Amino acid sequence: GKRIGVLTSGGDAPGMNAAIRAVVRKAIHDGDEVFGIRYGYRGLAEGDIFQMEERDVSDLTARGGTMLYTARYPEFKDAEGRQPAIDQLKKHGIDSLVVIGGDGSYRGAAALAAEGIQTVGIPGTIDNDIPGTEYTIGFDTACNTALEAIDKIRDTATSHLRTFIIEVMGRNAGDIAVWTGIGSGAEQIIIPEADFNMDEIVANIENGRKRGKKHSIIVLAEGVMEGHEFADKLYEYDDYHARVTVLGHVQRGGAPTARDRVLAALFGYKAVELIHEGAAGVCVGMMGEKIVATDINEALESKGHSHDNQVKLYNINTEISF
Ligand code: F6P
Repeated sequence: GKRIGVLTSGGDAPGMNAAIRAVVRKAIHDGDEVFGIRYGYRGLAEGDIFQMEERDVSDLTARGGTMLYTARYPEFKDAEGRQPAIDQLKKHGIDSLVVIGGDGSYRGAAALAAEGIQTVGIPGTIDNDIPGTEYTIGFDTACNTALEAIDKIRDTATSHLRTFIIEVMGRNAGDIAVWTGIGSGAEQIIIPEADFNMDEIVANIENGRKRGKKHSIIVLAEGVMEGHEFADKLYEYDDYHARVTVLGHVQRGGAPTARDRVLAALFGYKAVELIHEGAAGVCVGMMGEKIVATDINEALESKGHSHDNQVKLYNINTEISF
């Protein structure tokens, strides 16, 4: 059997635990030994490593966060930063490593693969901005959490005839904004992948009012600007009874949705299969509802996550929300 390490790295995402569980169970099922590594690459470099048994992942699928904890560890970009991690893997006889995280985590995994460690990346982030996959673990849950909040804001916005600017996460990607914008019937969605024009936005708010609309919901991706900055630009026209809500880290927590749990299970399963096939420096993903594997460097060079889909959804929204 293999000796497989598993860690989570970068920002956490709901469903990471379900992925850890799948890796541990599939590996044990196949006669491998599994080692949990706490606090991502930092913990790996520091030797925070323990053997995992099947019961260590009981009651885990439904829990948000990551039982292995996570950290951002920029030192891992340099060969000197990676050496202690490689030494720890050798010391524990760990020949393969499953890394659950974002693109920074993928770069670390590719670098370890170049050193002879069999690494497999699993895309885990709420931002949905990882190359090699159309969906990342945590995105669906984050969207559902944000939607629940936006629905509530809509109630109060209607009562007071207010305009709401709701800032959602997503780093430089507009995926959360466009999904929650369409899902909530927002009048405006502002994303980094499409330009916005404040004159048009203001005209839409005013036209809506004339036609009897009781509120205006603007979903703003954090990658464009902060909610308050956007409100200041809007105030240059009128106050529109505008209020700003920054959803923030609530989007990162909570029990994962069915979609994220199943995606996580399929990704974890596939990662262990790939290790048995001898793969190294690959990442798993879902493309056209199929689980696929891509070379990490190829995925990273493919200019990352495609923008076409967000722009398509964005354009559709302009025709159905006014
Ligand atoms: O990558 C996930 C994410 O939640 C982004 O959406 C956000 O920009 C960032 O992490 C926030 O980082 P932190 O948790 O370090 O404040």
